[in-house]
Amino acid sequence: MMQTGWEQAWLSYAEPKDACEVPVTCCPEEDAVLGRAKEELALAAKELPQGKMIWLKQSEEWDKEAYQICVGASDITITGGSSVGILYGVFGLLRRLRTKGLTDGSWSESPKNPLRMLNHWDNIDGSIERGYSGRSFFFSNDKVLFGERTKMYARLCASVGINGVVLNNVNVRQKATNLITQEYLPAVREISELLASYGIRTFLSVNFAAPIELGGLSVSDPLDPDVIQYWRRQTQILYREIPNFGGFLVKADSEGRPGPFTYGRTHADGANMLAKCLEPYGGLVIWRCFVYNCSQDWRDTKTDRARAGYDHFAPLDGLFLPNVILQIKNGPMDFQVREPVSPLFGGLTKTNQMLEVQAAQEYTGQQIHVCYLIPMWKEILSFRTYVTEENDTVADIISGKTFGQTNCGICAVANTGDDQNWTGHDLAAANWYGFGRLAWDPELSSEEIAQEWIVLTFGAQEKLKKVLGDILLNSWKAYENYTSPLGIGWMVNPSHHYGPNVEGYEYDRWGTYHRATRTAIGVERGSAGTGFAAQYREPNASMYEHVETTPEELLLFFHRIPYDYRLKDGRTLLQYIYDTHFAGVEQVEHMIEAFCTCKELIDEKRFARILSRLTAQLQSATEWRDRINTYFYRFTEQPDEHGRCIY
Ligand code: GCU
Repeated sequence: MMQTGWEQAWLSYAEPKDACEVPVTCCPEEDAVLGRAKEELALAAKELPQGKMIWLKQSEEWDKEAYQICVGASDITITGGSSVGILYGVFGLLRRLRTKGLTDGSWSESPKNPLRMLNHWDNIDGSIERGYSGRSFFFSNDKVLFGERTKMYARLCASVGINGVVLNNVNVRQKATNLITQEYLPAVREISELLASYGIRTFLSVNFAAPIELGGLSVSDPLDPDVIQYWRRQTQILYREIPNFGGFLVKADSEGRPGPFTYGRTHADGANMLAKCLEPYGGLVIWRCFVYNCSQDWRDTKTDRARAGYDHFAPLDGLFLPNVILQIKNGPMDFQVREPVSPLFGGLTKTNQMLEVQAAQEYTGQQIHVCYLIPMWKEILSFRTYVTEENDTVADIISGKTFGQTNCGICAVANTGDDQNWTGHDLAAANWYGFGRLAWDPELSSEEIAQEWIVLTFGAQEKLKKVLGDILLNSWKAYENYTSPLGIGWMVNPSHHYGPNVEGYEYDRWGTYHRATRTAIGVERGSAGTGFAAQYREPNASMYEHVETTPEELLLFFHRIPYDYRLKDGRTLLQYIYDTHFAGVEQVEHMIEAFCTCKELIDEKRFARILSRLTAQLQSATEWRDRINTYFYRFTEQPDEHGRCIY
């Protein structure tokens, strides 16, 4: 299958004018990964200090993914805990060289999170669920794609430390179920070997009903001996073909996907059955907690979707086998621009956990709007759960620091596709790059990550660094300003989720209501309402229980608030909504103005691409502002205090 043109993204090294030799001496025995490390050094030859010898060494005592770099007068030594550590060292060296320059001395690094994964929502027909960057580069027309583009993808991932990839959509429909069969395994093996040569393990999403769909059984009951036998045989075949296969990602009993509930079994029954099959091979079951009633009656004010993850999984804490990881979305709803952290973090103490964030900008502008998500992810990671006296942040839990777990980490729903620039919006690549960097080291600041990415992608001109840096760093807030206010979420068009529709999800079955009237808006989630706030540990539970102590940016997530309620700065809720919506659009106007001053500093093609997205963003942001403001104005009949135009 053909793979079309693509760019080098943040790995566009200076082209060597003449054949430029890099003197590399490899001490450990060369394997596929070391081969990649040397290949990368050769590709980046022009960037390297000429005449310096490069030593690649291994130290058995270190963590496998750790590395140390020593820069001396005549040589550079990269020591890794394994060949993967050396490969990371090579990428680390190149990054340092290209962003800060090299001085003599040494530094070492090791990743803070054991698993640093991308979840692709790619379908086997080549479409991508919530994909905003073209078609899949893994699949097309029920075939697996493999080639130079796959390799470029692997290099980009490895350069930021991503060490696991799920190739296919969590919604495993139709033919994709066959990915675990002999029909597809040779092709999956090709990809997995390539990825493995970059230190990346391959995972597949599986269909819990595969025993029925493929195995000819009448049930997929996890306690049924034939079902167990089916999965045993399947994993055996799988590992025979792909010995370093990572494991399964499972979306069960979620949005119509099959699962153990059909048979009156628990999610622990389901996950553990698969875990037992994978265990002899060192495989993992990554089991998603995105389980809620998606057939709610909007008239039902008792059921609260926000509660569902905790209600389903907290009672199962401690029942999962050691090779099961629960994958938890960052918030209790679904990747909105602002949500509180899922109370499962801090709620679970005896279960392996993995944080799931969404780089694909489903609800944050779909890669037409710029929305740099690293600041959001950093807030999530630094959230204190109070599960222990110290080391209790989400970052601590998922890194294994809190409970000493090793099967844990972080994953992002990928934002890539077969567009030339990989991510549709050129600036959205900062989220892919940034995800990897943050997963490696959650202590890195949003600014540092943005600056690294800008320099590696566009060059080191001060003006560009400033302008693009400001655009990225202000973008999440701007998006939040002109879209749905104060954590309310969901005011989007149904199904495709792009653009404003204030009541788009109001009378639907998805459990996503704001219940606005002419006097107030929001769902009460304190004890007088659904009781969701009590799923947190103290002091968070009390903080969210009361209107006065709820952080203002989440006010409408937790409480039903009258429009004349005074916020801390004295403004009414209504005036705040008007103000932020006007401000958000102005922020986009400023982004465009600033970006245009960089015309000479960016190549024509990329400049035009970005400008056209920013222009589309402005149009959409204006629509958001006017629809939201008009909605509240018509309801309340209260004009804007500053007399601005509302329709
Ligand atoms: C969201 C998204 C779906 C996706 C689901 C999931 O609801 O809109 O397309 O399948 O999340 O995470 O499983």
